Amino acid sequence: MKELMQSLREASIKAINESDNPESIEALRVKYLGKKGELTAILRQMGKLTPEERPVMGQLANQLREEIEQAIDLRKTILSKAILEKQLESEAVDVTLPGREQPVGHKHPMYNVLDQIKDIFIGMGFEIVDGPEVELADYNFTKLNIDEGHPSRDWTDTFYFTEDGRILLRTQTSPMQVHAMETRSLPIRMIAPGRVYRKDEVDATHSPMFHQIEGMVIDKGVTMADLKATLNLVVEKIYGKGTVTRFRPHHFPFTEPSCELDIQCHKCGGKGCPTCKGEGWIEVLGAGMVHPKVLSGCGIDPDVYSGWAFGMGLERLAMGEYKITDLRLIFENDVRFLEQF
Ligand code: PHE
Repeated sequence: MKELMQSLREASIKAINESDNPESIEALRVKYLGKKGELTAILRQMGKLTPEERPVMGQLANQLREEIEQAIDLRKTILSKAILEKQLESEAVDVTLPGREQPVGHKHPMYNVLDQIKDIFIGMGFEIVDGPEVELADYNFTKLNIDEGHPSRDWTDTFYFTEDGRILLRTQTSPMQVHAMETRSLPIRMIAPGRVYRKDEVDATHSPMFHQIEGMVIDKGVTMADLKATLNLVVEKIYGKGTVTRFRPHHFPFTEPSCELDIQCHKCGGKGCPTCKGEGWIEVLGAGMVHPKVLSGCGIDPDVYSGWAFGMGLERLAMGEYKITDLRLIFENDVRFLEQF
């Protein structure tokens, strides 16, 4: 019996140490220690022993059971550790790998210029208003004192949506003057930047879509002097102190009197160069005193209130600021161009 136990000891320890997964260890436990296991089978033969031998063999058998159990536990610990290590290894994250770069865009150069202008006007207490690009001819023309026969209403110049010419893409931001007067209480100080559309062929200085900024002030006692002072200040902030301006008489149906504002060419100081096309002056905007007819059409009494308005192209301003020579570059949105700013 002693020999049987010894060979069971050797065989079981060997098998346990050679097993390589938790399931087979469990199977070995059943095989050796289970009710029908090999150790139990040996113990069944205890009856054949003498009363003196029995306690000795019993003790040996218990010892063997403990040894087998310990071997199983040990093997299990070793195996689960190995499994964990393998898993950790296969799921490892290499923190030394370089990260994937997330490209971040930035503001379009023209919108940088727009932000700058917005800041200037916000600083003077102006409100920024937004309005429709699809507009009624009423707002784009009629309420702005532009009669039926006016050349700017021509089908060759304006994108119309309907045969009756009632709906169109706004050709200027000036309809925002009317919208503001109709929806705001007085006094009004507002600017309205946005897209406008004209049937222009595309070239280095023209595009069928471009941007304007409209500005308007309506209050009691507003005069041309306010217009000049405010716009001179804006020019100074955009182009720098000491920039020379010139208010040149002009005509717009919705302002009276009307003018255009030029700045003396900052490149040549007025002598004439490619930047100012030899003129010495660069046209910046159109402006004037809001026409009494436009005021009264919007329900404002021109005998009590007066106002001034201006309209300025945004692309040209950005082109000047960033020394961009071709308007098309602003709209193509080629990143090689945009990344320069
Ligand atoms: N809307 C005019 C244009 O597009 C500019 C302008 C605006 C002139 C406001 C006077 C007052 O040319």
